[in-house]
Amino acid sequence: MTLTFREELEGLRAGGLYRHLSLVEGAQTDRVMLDGREVLLLCSNNYLGLATHPSLKKAAIRAVELYGTGSGSARLVSGNMELHEALERRIATFKGTEAALLFNSGYAANTGIISAIAGKGDVIFSDRLNHASILDGSLLSRAKLVRYPHNDMVALRRLLSETGTVGRRLIVTDGVFSMDGDLAPLRDLVALKREFGTLLMVDDAHGTGILGATGRGSGEHLGVIAGIDIQMGTLGKALGSFGAYAAASREIVEFLINRARSFIFSTSLPPAVLAASLAAFDLVDSDEGAELREKLACTTRLFRNALNAAGFDTMGSATQIVPVYVGGARDVMEFSRMLLDDGIFVQGIRPPTVPPGSCRLRCTLTATHEMRDIERAIAAITAAGKKLGII
Ligand SMILES: Cc1ncc(COP(=O)(O)O)c(C=O)c1O
Repeated sequence: MTLTFREELEGLRAGGLYRHLSLVEGAQTDRVMLDGREVLLLCSNNYLGLATHPSLKKAAIRAVELYGTGSGSARLVSGNMELHEALERRIATFKGTEAALLFNSGYAANTGIISAIAGKGDVIFSDRLNHASILDGSLLSRAKLVRYPHNDMVALRRLLSETGTVGRRLIVTDGVFSMDGDLAPLRDLVALKREFGTLLMVDDAHGTGILGATGRGSGEHLGVIAGIDIQMGTLGKALGSFGAYAAASREIVEFLINRARSFIFSTSLPPAVLAASLAAFDLVDSDEGAELREKLACTTRLFRNALNAAGFDTMGSATQIVPVYVGGARDVMEFSRMLLDDGIFVQGIRPPTVPPGSCRLRCTLTATHEMRDIERAIAAITAAGKKLGII
């Protein structure tokens, strides 16, 4: 029997899986007005605080004055402006690749890149905890999808040896896993891709701007940036803007321009976003950028260590994404509600974002958080965790 929309929504509610939109008023800073009251924001991906940085705002305003608000069409029609090409050159230099190609979001990048690279007769090897957009791109491609257990290189090696070499083979992984905050074993992945002659794509949405001595991301952090064939990244997280890119060889970029449908059939990014992104890369490369990264690493260490010492399971996090394992959907939403009562906004993460039974609070720190904010959050999480019997 087909359920009505109402019945399906009631089913979600009964299972603790119903979602609603919370209204954040004003700018995305570390204190926001949520549904009319001020709270400490502990679940934003604006990791360096660049979304409200004066230099990004100034660049965006100037771009609007010079170029207007919209690009008017897709890149392959008349929407290829100077700023698109300038930003692509900047990204390629930043990532150390021959070329780069912009996409309108990380979701559009992953669905576009993967479904262009792989098709019928090809095989995609994808970490089981990869972002939903990687899964969707893989399903869209109609290639054979082999999902390997999270970060399990022994299993991946076996799966690679079991599949034939006909067609293209692509290994794809998050660099930093978005809901766990742990890192992909990129050194092993680069070795495997070389051994088996596959392509390697890394989604570094949460590593770019943060990890590595100069913020180039998880590839730089683990010393294998040159071994990655396609470095995908987003501009809407640490870079404080919007959009995404693939950084790769000139040949791959040329191929994506001709084959990636989310690139071909979509109006290009507007000037303000492009100019803000250019300013963001300048900032990441500046002394200020280095200081922001250093501060974030320092507060993250303190936060994670304190939660572990209190008895919480932070699920192998090694980055500014610090999950607090809870388990059930209802419990995690109750945890989140209790923190909100205490003036702290952290979302509970439930299926289908994470596997059933592994619900968690996904705490994210930003460089604009001060030590007293972190200490306040630790105290509130510890008190609520005790009340709920999690620790
Ligand atoms: C790992 C990962 N890839 C891709 C995306 C999608 O990026 P965007 O929000 O720009 O669509 C996200 C986050 O939303 C993500 O966490």
